[in-house]
Amino acid sequence: MGKENVIVALDIGTSKITTLIGDIDDSGNLVVAGFGEAPSMGIEKGIIVKPNDVISAIRKSVDEAESTAGSKISGVIANVSGYHIECRNDAEKIEFNTSQKIITQMDISQLIEKVASKIQPQKENLEVIHIIPKKYILDNEDEVIDPIGLVASKIEGKFHIVLDKINAYTNLKKVIESSGLRVIDFVANPIASATAVLYPEEKEMGIVVLDIGAGTTDMAVYKDGSIEYIKSFPVGGNQVTMDIAHRFKVSKEEAEKLKTSYGAAIPDFEEGEIIEVYPRGSEEPIHVDQLDLVDTIEARLSEIFEIAKRELEELGYLGKVNGGVVLTGGVAKTPYIKELAESIFGLDVRIGKPKAYTGFSDKVAFPEYATSIGMLLFAKNKVSSMNTQPVSNSSSFDILKIGKSLIEKIKSIF
Ligand SMILES: Nc1ncnc2c1ncn2[C@@H]1O[C@H](COP(=O)(O)OP(=O)(O)OP(=O)(O)O)[C@@H](O)[C@H]1O
Ligand SMILES: [Mg+2]
Repeated sequence: MGKENVIVALDIGTSKITTLIGDIDDSGNLVVAGFGEAPSMGIEKGIIVKPNDVISAIRKSVDEAESTAGSKISGVIANVSGYHIECRNDAEKIEFNTSQKIITQMDISQLIEKVASKIQPQKENLEVIHIIPKKYILDNEDEVIDPIGLVASKIEGKFHIVLDKINAYTNLKKVIESSGLRVIDFVANPIASATAVLYPEEKEMGIVVLDIGAGTTDMAVYKDGSIEYIKSFPVGGNQVTMDIAHRFKVSKEEAEKLKTSYGAAIPDFEEGEIIEVYPRGSEEPIHVDQLDLVDTIEARLSEIFEIAKRELEELGYLGKVNGGVVLTGGVAKTPYIKELAESIFGLDVRIGKPKAYTGFSDKVAFPEYATSIGMLLFAKNKVSSMNTQPVSNSSSFDILKIGKSLIEKIKSIF
């Protein structure tokens, strides 16, 4: 691993805490150079409920990643998720005094400052997570992605803003710091997952990403090439497991095994297998019909899709996402989930696995790592969009060693 180009993602999920050490190679590509994972404890529906349990799970995950990579971790990119994240779209303009002017980074920063000044974090009890540029319009006409160096007399910037409730944000930061780590930056789950699984043409056509994890379903909507809307619903695979546990009176562990070994989103058989299971506290087995198991899973997954569909309908996005839906997160591994989603949304559906990286693919080439890989990719893109110059005498940047001022500068850009 090249020591200088390191980004670390700490993905705190409801079922697992994953630490990925990402190395940026000389061609600017992401190579996963370290992997650590621990079962998550103390998180429910993306919310910290037992901080000390979360801290020990973080330490376990980070220690494992350090030993696989043979290097120490100090700073991390962490994720924010849960029903308390919210988003807005906003725009701001600058008219230059001169008739024509070359647009500089200063002008972009000024636009972002204007947008940021309208948010009143203290009053609204919110923390700004992202201010993501969507596009710029020059002289009311030309739409551009990167206006720096172009000439105009007027520039308008359109931005997507992601906010988190200040208490949730502060608690998360405290827990990570109590684990002996420094938080360099935060990425919202829906943005991270979408970054890992989407193709540019899908963003152009309009697309919805649904990352269905254990505790949350994170939704991102892209339209005309950029992010339009995000939402985190407090529902996920844990509810499917609990439904199975209730219906068949088995333990949560047994229900999870039943789900992942025999489950499906819709039945592809007329007669299911008869499965022998032991109800809680009983030594006498009972027999579960696989059709009943699939029926339980189908009911809950349908409800999750209906919740997402209703939101898209209410916001007017449903008719505008011609690219369809991408499903990711651990629940996307449920057999026939694509077919169930297609029947509910009436749109094309595909399963999204993380892309645009190499290394540890035996561990991370699966839907449940879309967020972790996406966090690394998002941070990498952010740094390269800043056109970061080498720091100190190293031949490349080290995001873990970049001073606070530069990190703050990066933060203000996205
Ligand atoms: N083969 C499978 N079939 C059905 N469900 C599965 C399968 N494999 C994993 N899951 C489910 O995926 C969920 C875990 O997904 P993931 O790892 O993406 O969640 P997480 O990141 O820990 O949680 P969250 O992001 O919601 O906080 C669990 O509910 C698990 O039961
Ligand atoms: Mg997750």
